[in-house]
Amino acid sequence: MSLTDTVGDLNVVLTALAFTGGCLAAGYRYGLFSGRKPLLARLQDANNDLAEKGRLIADLEGQVRQPISNQVSQCAPDIPPESVQVWLREIATADATLATQRGKLPILLVANLKGGVAKTMVAANLAAYFARRNNYPATQALSNKRVLLIDLDYQGSLSRMTLSAMGAIGPLNPRSHADALLRADVSDDEAFALRVSGSSALPNLSFFPATYGFDDFETREQFAWLTNSSPDDVRFRLLKRLRSPAFENNFDLVIIDTGPRLTLGSVNALVAATHLIIPTASDTRSIEAVALFLRRVSTMKRGQLGGANPVRLCPHLQVLGVLPTLTGGIAAQVALQEDAAAKLKTVVGADADLRALIAPGQLLLSAELPRSQPMQKAAESTIPYLETGAIRRTINEIGAEIEKRM
Ligand SMILES: Nc1ncnc2c1ncn2[C@@H]1O[C@H](COP(=O)(O)OP(=O)(O)OP(=O)(O)O)[C@@H](O)[C@H]1O
Ligand SMILES: [Mg+2]
Repeated sequence: MSLTDTVGDLNVVLTALAFTGGCLAAGYRYGLFSGRKPLLARLQDANNDLAEKGRLIADLEGQVRQPISNQVSQCAPDIPPESVQVWLREIATADATLATQRGKLPILLVANLKGGVAKTMVAANLAAYFARRNNYPATQALSNKRVLLIDLDYQGSLSRMTLSAMGAIGPLNPRSHADALLRADVSDDEAFALRVSGSSALPNLSFFPATYGFDDFETREQFAWLTNSSPDDVRFRLLKRLRSPAFENNFDLVIIDTGPRLTLGSVNALVAATHLIIPTASDTRSIEAVALFLRRVSTMKRGQLGGANPVRLCPHLQVLGVLPTLTGGIAAQVALQEDAAAKLKTVVGADADLRALIAPGQLLLSAELPRSQPMQKAAESTIPYLETGAIRRTINEIGAEIEKRM
């Protein structure tokens, strides 16, 4: 027998032992061998007694499920904010100083680490609301703003909606993408010139779209930064760009949509933003995700816990509130949504760091975005705000409340 065969056999034996050990450990853990007799033996004894068999199976199921469900319910609130850690490297003094100064341009970030909660729907409609509200009688008292809308999600759903709403603007300059805002080798004036604008439907709106390819850019830039081969601190590129005269003097408001991930784009958005709005569906999972996101925002705002020199990435970011989305439905669904909202208030109220971000009483906006088929249908080909008066009324309420909080 060769040495390789012997090692191979040994491996088989060790694997079998480990497997048996694992099974025994799991068996003990779940009480299979507890009591007078192992549970499995009792199950065999109860062969012809169906009632006893049912009780034993229910007992076994209960013992297995209990620890799992405990783990699941504890899981989300206790997850430490590891995914922030990679972004919490020390900041060069000049960038740290810049982060502590306020710019004059309000930058509204629409974000949440949970996917599919209508972030993009909210961002697009708010951009249309702020850029066009003067055109509608209900909001006549307010004036239009010069709005810059930025898509920082490579999925590009905001881009499809916005570009078609902006109408016949011809083929895009291939360089007119959000990465132009984050490139160290593009000047501020060049970046400004690359914006998509000039739509007759939305004359006050400028836009930077994103497509697949943006994720490639993000990965490359993050890697270069982590390996110290970046010419600058990649986390501050958007902040610097939006603080430049080319942008500060030509816009009144910036709105940013991000994907449900803490990528380079999202971190730049959190660093640059002055205000944060968090759309969320009102179910338990989504509510847990909001709490998790708020914890990460808190860490980025306050700096790393216990660090001698805390890295404050977004000291001025103001959490405006949580916007309930996809609401409505039958009474039972509405009741569940109300329960989830109450649970979120309790979670935030019980955590000093989260309370410091926003008071539990202020947490939820009173306006909401109901689930609406016409809105979903309209979003296939345009920004729904441009489509019907009913949609505009819904968005006007959300926009007005956000504006009041800003
Ligand atoms: N008020 C609404 N009524 C009905 N459908 C909606 C509404 N808002 C959004 N949707 C639909 O729900 C889906 C998710 O919306 P949206 O893309 O805005 O979410 P998201 O949070 O941006 O998702 P992602 O995390 O993938 O970026 C889309 O199909 C959208 O058309
Ligand atoms: Mg989206």
